[in-house]
Amino acid sequence: MSLSQIAKSIAPSATLKLNETAAILRAKGDPVIHLGGGEPKGRAPLDAVLAAASLLNTGEVRYTPPDGIPALKKAIIRYTEEFYGFKPAPENVMASGGAKQAIMSALHALVNPQEEVIFPAPYWVSYPEMVKLVGGVPVPVLPEDGSFIPRIQDIEQVVGSYTRVVIVNSPNNPSGAVYPESFIADVVDFCERRGLWLIMDDIYHRLIFDGRKPINPCTFAKDRTENSKLIIVNGVSKQYAMTGFRIGWAVGNRAVIEAMTNIQGHETSGPSALLQHAAVGAINGIQSSVGSLRSTLENNRNVLVQELRAFDGVHLEIPGGTFYSFADFRHYSKDSVKLARFLLDKVQVVTVPGKEFGLDGYLRISFCGSIKEITEGVERMKWALDPNAPNELWIGERKLVRDWS
Ligand SMILES: Cc1ncc(COP(=O)(O)O)c(C=O)c1O
Repeated sequence: MSLSQIAKSIAPSATLKLNETAAILRAKGDPVIHLGGGEPKGRAPLDAVLAAASLLNTGEVRYTPPDGIPALKKAIIRYTEEFYGFKPAPENVMASGGAKQAIMSALHALVNPQEEVIFPAPYWVSYPEMVKLVGGVPVPVLPEDGSFIPRIQDIEQVVGSYTRVVIVNSPNNPSGAVYPESFIADVVDFCERRGLWLIMDDIYHRLIFDGRKPINPCTFAKDRTENSKLIIVNGVSKQYAMTGFRIGWAVGNRAVIEAMTNIQGHETSGPSALLQHAAVGAINGIQSSVGSLRSTLENNRNVLVQELRAFDGVHLEIPGGTFYSFADFRHYSKDSVKLARFLLDKVQVVTVPGKEFGLDGYLRISFCGSIKEITEGVERMKWALDPNAPNELWIGERKLVRDWS
């Protein structure tokens, strides 16, 4: 079939595909444990549900302005004041169909064909494909010291005349690493000095542990004018457990927000009115759900770390935030795709191969599920990989017999 070059170059989203596979296996009655997920299990805040319901009850759900309803922009302005310490004008704000669409619109607005977009590895699976979708060239940068913490020297080394944008995501999907303030300060300063756009993907910024506070990149910006090339992206998906509501946003200078709005206006129009109202409810409502999600995740993180520490041959950097860990399984296999497939086939545990995030030999293991799923999932993985494990494992009524060595 004669599809476009771009269409042919785009890989399916590995994580969405895994969700599908897990759902199919579950529907067949298989006792699948999904440690590959990317969404908190809790309910959306009541304020969000009530706000959407009250609009739905009117029966009048209309188109919205392409950059979002005034009430949502107002809520985002207040959120920005609280977490970023400045008050953007409504013209500096665009609401979108998830942080994903905000990043996509920003790339559309900024990147010319063949221009390069740099991001540290391991990286969120969608960045390379999003860059390719706008005709750009993705440039992942693996920290030279083998850690998950990038250094500005790593980025400096790959910047060239084609570099247009740097994307930084901290706390990071997939590693859970919270980049140090010193790196955030360096990258803000570096991008300002080199005239590069910097997209801060802050979607997990409130999901950080050990009593730490979200890092505010704006405190390091010297240019706070309309010439600033810093774009902050955020959304309701993760912090409010509202992944299906599909509301995110971007805050940036007027010119880029106007361009992004024009693009979004033609691509999708404004996000659903109903869901924008829900987002207003979540952002302006009682915030206790964020704190309780954070402490549940921190507790889950601690359990997972304990389980993986008792797993000989697996190395783990303790995640400081998000609900992902990125564990080194190279002792067992350097091919993470094969390993993830093996774990799914043999013990019905879903993990995401590190290769999808730019680092083979690792598996992303999520801790957004229940403690039972985490402990049982890791136990099954251990059983599958440990050659000295007993020959049989019971999963409920089902007996698994090892037929591999
Ligand atoms: C790093 C990162 N950025 C953005 C997104 C997209 O979030 P949203 O659901 O708001 O589109 C995700 C979702 O997994 C993510 O992990």
